[in-house]
Amino acid sequence: MNKKILVTGGSGFLGSHLVEKLLARGDEVLCVDNFYTGTRRNVEHLIGHKRFELMRHDVCLPLYVEVDEIYNLACPASPIHYQYDPVQTTKTSVHGAINMLGLAKRVKAKILQASTSEVYGDPSVHPQPEGYWGNVNPIGIRSCYDEGKRCAETLFFDYWRQHQLRIKIVRIFNTYGPRMHPNDGRVVSNFIVQALKGEDITIYGDGQQTRSFCYSDDLVDAIMRMMDTADPVTGPVNIGNPHEFTIRQLANLVLELTGSRSKIVSRPLPQDDPLQRKPDITLAKELLDWSPSIELRQGLIKTIAYFDQLLKGEAEVPASLS
Ligand SMILES: NC(=O)c1ccc[n+]([C@@H]2O[C@H](COP(=O)([O-])OP(=O)(O)OC[C@H]3O[C@@H](n4cnc5c(N)ncnc54)[C@H](O)[C@@H]3O)[C@@H](O)[C@H]2O)c1
Repeated sequence: MNKKILVTGGSGFLGSHLVEKLLARGDEVLCVDNFYTGTRRNVEHLIGHKRFELMRHDVCLPLYVEVDEIYNLACPASPIHYQYDPVQTTKTSVHGAINMLGLAKRVKAKILQASTSEVYGDPSVHPQPEGYWGNVNPIGIRSCYDEGKRCAETLFFDYWRQHQLRIKIVRIFNTYGPRMHPNDGRVVSNFIVQALKGEDITIYGDGQQTRSFCYSDDLVDAIMRMMDTADPVTGPVNIGNPHEFTIRQLANLVLELTGSRSKIVSRPLPQDDPLQRKPDITLAKELLDWSPSIELRQGLIKTIAYFDQLLKGEAEVPASLS
């Protein structure tokens, strides 16, 4: 029998890919979004599909629908976006979690939370296993996101302990792919947009700091596997790609794949820029029989093709943030 699935934040970057995969699997999908950082355009091609429904709704308000599973992805995800209205960011994580958990409790749905590697804050352990409690500043400008997501995890576990809810938590590390927002200040979208526009590619410091990047299809595959785990499995489980690249390697790869003549220029390294960020995905491999399969080069080719179209005006940027 088809499952009825609610995806909050379903018209965002990751949400829209998830919605597509669930529909392809044969599920019925209700996509709920307030279009804060997402855009209707991301799911426009699905409108008219007989198992797809799009609803404009803010998860800070209660929602009454009948569903079997809930993927809670609603939340602005990049620093530029979540710092734009920090109070709303915390409300989205905390009130959003309370409302979606309340719904899951009423209709006995299974519920998955899209948490983040940012719950580890400025970690003193590398790479971070799920058992590491993190090192988060509670009063800084990133706290609205980091602490909001931490509180959401707390709420999930309290609903699990107190009300025996079936919960799943994934901690997502840096993910990229088509439908990322072009102005969200992230390194992959920044470099691609700069290269396609022929502008200088800015790297901070000497570019020897490393990052790891997970392609959106790999990520969606992992979170669907997580939702399908047996009930005792709650997570949290790290999801990401542990393959490390230096920022300079990424810049060179983007230049090669775009054929751009942009120059790489260096700027001073910001104080809080970590030298390394890499997920420990041992648990994901064990529990989900999953590991990322899409190489950076492959994923970048698809992402560049998307941004190329976007810059030619063939795709839409959300009005509130363009
Ligand atoms: N992309 C990543 O690298 C990454 C890393 C860690 C965690 N995550 C998490 O994954 C989820 C999806 O991230 P994304 O990269 O697709 O970001 P995104 O900004 O593209 O998607 C978030 C979606 O949530 C919607 N939204 C925001 N506030 C809402 C509200 N109050 N009510 C209803 N909808 C609301 C937005 O309009 C958008 O469509 C987020 O929860 C994010 O924290 C993403």
